[in-house]
Amino acid sequence: MTEKQYVLSIDQGTTSSRAIVFDHGGRVVAVGQKEHEQIFPRAGWVEHDPMEVWRNVRAVVAEALSAAELNHRDLAAVGITNQRETTVVWDRTTGEPVHNAIVWQDTRTARIVEELGGEAGQDRYKDRVGLPLATYFCGPKVKWILDNVDGARARAEAGELLMGTMDSWLLWHMTGGVDGGVHVTDVTNASRTMLMDLQTLAWAEDIAADMGIPTSMLPEIRSSAEVYGHGRSRGMLDGVPIAGILGDQQAATFGQACFDVGMAKNTYGTGNFMLMNTGTEPVLSNNGLLTTVCYRIGDAPPVYALEGSIAVTGSLVQWLRDNLGIIRSAEEVEQLAAGVEDNGGAYFVPAFSGLFAPYWRSDARGVLVGLTRYVNRGHIARAVLEATAYQTREVLEAMEADSATKLAELRVDGGMTANETLMQFQADQLGADVVRPVVAETTALGAAYAAGIAVGFWEGEADVVANWSEGRRWRPQMASAERERLFRNWKKAVTRSFDWVD
Ligand code: G3P
Repeated sequence: MTEKQYVLSIDQGTTSSRAIVFDHGGRVVAVGQKEHEQIFPRAGWVEHDPMEVWRNVRAVVAEALSAAELNHRDLAAVGITNQRETTVVWDRTTGEPVHNAIVWQDTRTARIVEELGGEAGQDRYKDRVGLPLATYFCGPKVKWILDNVDGARARAEAGELLMGTMDSWLLWHMTGGVDGGVHVTDVTNASRTMLMDLQTLAWAEDIAADMGIPTSMLPEIRSSAEVYGHGRSRGMLDGVPIAGILGDQQAATFGQACFDVGMAKNTYGTGNFMLMNTGTEPVLSNNGLLTTVCYRIGDAPPVYALEGSIAVTGSLVQWLRDNLGIIRSAEEVEQLAAGVEDNGGAYFVPAFSGLFAPYWRSDARGVLVGLTRYVNRGHIARAVLEATAYQTREVLEAMEADSATKLAELRVDGGMTANETLMQFQADQLGADVVRPVVAETTALGAAYAAGIAVGFWEGEADVVANWSEGRRWRPQMASAERERLFRNWKKAVTRSFDWVD
């Protein structure tokens, strides 16, 4: 361990950016947080302003350091974790983005992915990249920008433009930007682009060519834990090694200490993402899951995961608050849901970005079904919460089918795990224990661990395991006939969400 006592983690998420200072025990010392604007230019489009995000990251780093009464000299390392897939294209000489970032939830590339699939269909590249062709991933988003922003393709071909996910965008700025910023991503983020070969961990140049993406735009792919560069951002993190990058869901898997094959975690954020460690060989799914890189520590062999991605869970609660005004705060949903006995027959399938795992239907749209005059706000709140639990069960069942194992318990984290009603219902639906650790900030913690391991602040995974401890456990209580009746109805509701796009 070095004499420095802290590691800083930057968590650039879908709705906000956070900076968290951790100590050697993996405890939270201080937090800075700032939301950024969600830009919805049309139905199905979601954008972020990359400059706003970069400004917010600087602000939250300063906020966290000041709250902890620390400065950059107290930091052993900085880790970055980020919303995955959200794509930025910028000019390497001015640092200006050529377009807003296209967010992972955005469905504008539906036609592009269909055309790319052609005769071969959605799984054209699945053996190589582990992913079905879907609007979710980066490659088609880059193609859209190059096809639609005036002059962008010519500038990209002339080598003037760079692309990256939020990790690369931030790292490039933090390490100097136009003045020599490093253009790097890690294997986990690269595995979400549709452009990285899962076996070689190198860019699949033929797939990039199919999408018309010059490889000169792509960042260098590195491990998740090594020194990429040092802070040079206006004195703020001057000289501090930036030494860890993990996509946020992989970071949470790391922070949850899921290091053994078969261990899984589920994060309840804007969406839900369940990852199961499958070891050092990629396992392809037959049940609608993604194959993704889980982490790679320096030169050690990469570790892979199966992932069930659900686009809309927590963001449905936000929608209830912001678009319908049924609740004033996200927490109120639990109160409202707890005021009724059950869902009153209502089921809400929140296919706002189409349906991700295990369906991968970009033609799906949200539906609220089973309504009668009996149904009130409480029932709708209940249906909103239940939607998260049913979707999670579908993903867990796919995972059990792919891995031919039954999960004994599920480690959970993220904002919605504070919701007791939901967590109990989740355990009921899964028929398995649901366990939340004491430190539920596992995403930021995972990136801190990766950075800290790279510089010797922590020795390795054993330290992560030693720091993990159980905080709360929910056990299944519901009678199985009721559990199955509800799930059958949910499945029926899902079929009603299909075929909405002409
Ligand atoms: O794949 C999208 C995911 O990384 C977003 O996570 O927590 O920002 O909603 P979150």
